[in-house]
Amino acid sequence: MNSKNIFQMLDMSNRASLITGGAGHIGVEMALSLAELGSNIILIDKDFNGLQLAKESILNVFNAQVVTIAADLEDEQSPSKIASIVDNKFGKVDVLINNAAFGGTTVLEGWTTTFAHQSLSTWRRALEVNLTSAFALSQACISLLNQSKSASIINIGSIYGFLGPDLSLYEGTAMNNPAAYAASKGGLLQLTRWMATVLGPDIRVNAISPGGVARGQPQAFVDRYVSRTPLKRMGREEDFKGAIVYLASDMSAWVTGQNLVVDGGWSVW
Ligand SMILES: NC(=O)c1ccc[n+]([C@@H]2O[C@H](COP(=O)([O-])OP(=O)(O)OC[C@H]3O[C@@H](n4cnc5c(N)ncnc54)[C@H](O)[C@@H]3O)[C@@H](O)[C@H]2O)c1
Repeated sequence: MNSKNIFQMLDMSNRASLITGGAGHIGVEMALSLAELGSNIILIDKDFNGLQLAKESILNVFNAQVVTIAADLEDEQSPSKIASIVDNKFGKVDVLINNAAFGGTTVLEGWTTTFAHQSLSTWRRALEVNLTSAFALSQACISLLNQSKSASIINIGSIYGFLGPDLSLYEGTAMNNPAAYAASKGGLLQLTRWMATVLGPDIRVNAISPGGVARGQPQAFVDRYVSRTPLKRMGREEDFKGAIVYLASDMSAWVTGQNLVVDGGWSVW
């Protein structure tokens, strides 16, 4: 039998994994997970200082090559610039993780407010970062992905990409649930299915949809959220390690077009 054993299937040595939003909470955790399996890492973010901290946190523990690229994904030129830098450095992309997003805690005018006050300009910016940049960067990286023998695109969605919000969770808090977030994440799930059928058999395309992660939200919100979560807690960054490693590696070699929901069972209710 010539098939690989489990450890060989998880081996990411000499692979190049590109993560947008790489300075963010979940982005760093995904980078650490892939570096632990031997992958080289490319971190993209508009937060320059956050990128340096993320790079240090990886190099403190793992012997990976880590490239940081400060780029704003709202800038139409960014995808081609990123692809060119990665081409010069690695000549390929094995894993592309479209993770950067405006999220529930992003501070923006006309964002986490009532429907009547959600602004069109912020809607457009959110669609640009959360959805359009995933299309544009995937397209810009296509020849680099085609250089890989095991290319995998992973789009980071959300439970709100396939479920309507329950606004009673937010009562008495300054939190809310923007329509643009839901629409952008719903679009990302459909982009995942579209790319999976069009880019196969050489490139696999899947999504991970996280549930809510604990980030110091008001206690009233946390209590309500936890009470309707079967696993009775909010998420932690490390909860996404298994999903990312599975979809990035040869463990999922025959899996494409799927949405792996990691939410403590929240969406099953
Ligand atoms: N935290 C949660 O509860 C939760 C729940 C569901 C889904 N998600 C999804 O998980 C992913 C990661 O979330 P997180 O909690 O780590 O968020 P985060 O805010 O910590 O990280 C997001 C990163 O994206 C970067 N970014 C935003 N706009 C950018 C732009 N224009 N150009 C370049 N970089 C940009 C930010 O600088 C930030 O570092 C997101 O796609 C988010 O929607 C998170």
